[in-house]
Amino acid sequence: MIINSLTQQLDEEMDQLSLQRASVLVASHYGHPPLAFVHSFGCQQNVSDGERLKGLLAEMGFGFTDEQERADLILFNTCAVRESAEDRVFGNVGALKNLKRADPDRIIVLCGCMMQQPQVAERIKKSFPYVDIVFGTGAIHRLPVFLAQRLESRKRVFWNQPAQNVVEGIPAVRDEGVKAWLTIMQGCNNFCTYCIVPHVRGREVSRTPDRIEAEARELIGLGYREITLLGQNVNSYGKGLEEPCDFPALLRRLDGIDGEYRLRFMTSHPRDCTRELIDTIAGSRHVCHHIHLPVQSGSDRVVKAMNRHYDIAHYLELIAYARQRMPDVTFSSDIIVGFPGETREEFLETLALIRKVRYNALFTFIYSRRSGTPAATMPDPVPAAEKSVWFRELLEVQQQICTELNEEMVGTVQRVLFDSVGKSGDGFLAGRTEGNIIVEAPGDRSLIGKFLPVRITRAMNWAMVGTIQQ
Ligand code: 5AD
Ligand code: SF4
Repeated sequence: MIINSLTQQLDEEMDQLSLQRASVLVASHYGHPPLAFVHSFGCQQNVSDGERLKGLLAEMGFGFTDEQERADLILFNTCAVRESAEDRVFGNVGALKNLKRADPDRIIVLCGCMMQQPQVAERIKKSFPYVDIVFGTGAIHRLPVFLAQRLESRKRVFWNQPAQNVVEGIPAVRDEGVKAWLTIMQGCNNFCTYCIVPHVRGREVSRTPDRIEAEARELIGLGYREITLLGQNVNSYGKGLEEPCDFPALLRRLDGIDGEYRLRFMTSHPRDCTRELIDTIAGSRHVCHHIHLPVQSGSDRVVKAMNRHYDIAHYLELIAYARQRMPDVTFSSDIIVGFPGETREEFLETLALIRKVRYNALFTFIYSRRSGTPAATMPDPVPAAEKSVWFRELLEVQQQICTELNEEMVGTVQRVLFDSVGKSGDGFLAGRTEGNIIVEAPGDRSLIGKFLPVRITRAMNWAMVGTIQQ
């Protein structure tokens, strides 16, 4: 476990005091060094928020456990992006009833995107009386205040006010390892018509380049070798900053830090992805030649109905330009199948686009109706069973493309950052190429955290296999 604490002090004096007060209350409530179980559902942004929630819990005296039965506090950091994610959370919360009954001193906390929605908070209030504390994404830094309130008054705490700004200085507990997440901005201004995120995470707010650079330097100093910059739309980074700095400028600044590390970023919106950004990646020392560029659909009509503000011709131009500047660049994307009103012909346009671009990886989703978004009220005549058929077709096409791309990699030498023991077991290492492809190779654990040249010898289903070149 690595605790990184940028300033050791929260920006708001009030919160520093609440942290102290909560620590005292926690100690007397439990009477023993308490353990917390923390689980984040959903995207990397949530995982990054979860690291900060753990940071606050650690400051209040909690240790951590992976077993809910042993935990004195159970916290779920929830996701609202699709209905399936919400169902999973409700299922997990339902299962906590017996644990609470077994130990009524156990505190149950629900937070994150799902809890920012008033109707969800209301349902928790009514149907899950054993949940103690509920708050949305805008209030992570208030966890100590909420915990103190709960322990002092024994009243349940509910809070879903929107986020106002980025609160700096929250310590993070990160898993030890090779890779770290670094949030550069919060919120989203795009309002894609299917998406709940701007409704729950609020408007875009960027952290200052100084803070980001300081955190990146600290992470590199702690031994992390890969830093992924996080934001819902990193390409629009920098709006509203006093000192002007856009995303390419931020990348150049971070790239200037000396050391052996690599930078990744996500997510990029094709509307805001510029030639300058591509030139910056191409000219950098540390930024990986991999772009996650979610297209969502291959049909101009559907993309327009999604309020995405680009067309497929523009998207393909970006891809072509990036390939011209970086012949080794790889792409990944998000695709939604069955957006309301999407026809079979329009879906086939998505398949055609995928065949044209040849992505190394796709994150594919069946459209999920999110109440409160514009798409939720659009006519949606295609039956779910039909959408599932399309979805499987999409997976098959992508599988075929992946197989071909993997075959093409055999015989090449790739620079791999090894990050863990491989799935093939002890004696095997797993890592990723610059292009974000998983590679396994025989090797000793002492090589974890090293960048090594690997000759690719064959392709398996989930990874490429190779041998480390000495
Ligand atoms: N239904 C299905 N997929 C969605 N995504 C966002 N909202 C929805 C939704 N309502 C997908 C998009 C986005 C990714 C993070 O999740 O593809 O890029
Ligand atoms: Fe949602 Fe679109 Fe914002 Fe991504 S860019 S978080 S899909 S609204």
